[in-house]
Amino acid sequence: MLEVENLDVTYGRTRAVKSVSLTVGEGEIVTVLGANGAGKTSLLRALQGAVRPSGGRIRFNGRDLTAQSPAARVRDGMVLVPEGRQIFVSMTVEENLLMGAYLRKDASVDRDIASIYERFPNLAERRYASASSLSGGEQQMLAIGRALVSRPRLIMLDEPSLGLSPLFVERLFTLLGDLNKDGIGILLVEQNTTMALDIAARGYVLELGTNVLEDTAEALASNTALTEAYLGGHGETATEEPARLA
Ligand SMILES: Nc1ncnc2c1ncn2[C@@H]1O[C@H](COP(=O)(O)OP(=O)(O)O)[C@@H](O)[C@H]1O
Ligand SMILES: [Mg+2]
Repeated sequence: MLEVENLDVTYGRTRAVKSVSLTVGEGEIVTVLGANGAGKTSLLRALQGAVRPSGGRIRFNGRDLTAQSPAARVRDGMVLVPEGRQIFVSMTVEENLLMGAYLRKDASVDRDIASIYERFPNLAERRYASASSLSGGEQQMLAIGRALVSRPRLIMLDEPSLGLSPLFVERLFTLLGDLNKDGIGILLVEQNTTMALDIAARGYVLELGTNVLEDTAEALASNTALTEAYLGGHGETATEEPARLA
């Protein structure tokens, strides 16, 4: 479904992603692991279309999307739940969900929003409340709900468990499993290595922008020496993001 070939992302002199290739099959869960600064967010932003890659190719369902706008990618069925959620805190829960539908012209948006409220009863109860009043875990659910309104075939998530309580981390991974059962492919960037490898079929490990390991999730999970070396031994704990340039 998703085929990424030799992707490069460069900011000035920083080569954040160096010739990374990866695939996500139809309905597959794939994880990308790596320590802070490994290039995970840059990779996802290039896949989303927010950052123009300096090299390489992105194909989705056989179509070359490398030069396509973020909106075109969403229309084609690829959506990103960004790092730090990025919900609109000055809007209500429902307005946030409607933002996920802005590219759609069909009349079934109301039905899809209703189905999101069924999936997330917490959000249904708070539909007219300001998104800023939600807990971190609820905000993450809202960010995922907003992505689901675009009816994705592939959902990409950038460290969705970061900063969540153990209860919400548990709920989040259950949700990802449910979405996958509904046929949605998942590209999951995580620092919670254990849970990511538990849910994924395959994984890639990035170090300083380079793909240094690629294997089945099972093989990566048993490869503790290597994963600890590349993940800086932070595999189990969600660490804060470093300060970054705007
Ligand atoms: N907008 C930016 N401008 C310049 N450098 C950036 C920018 N975003 C990220 N970087 C640099 O690119 C590298 C990879 O960062 P990032 O993709 O955020 O990694 P990760 O998500 O794995 O922590 C880091 O060295 C980071 O400082
Ligand atoms: Mg990141």
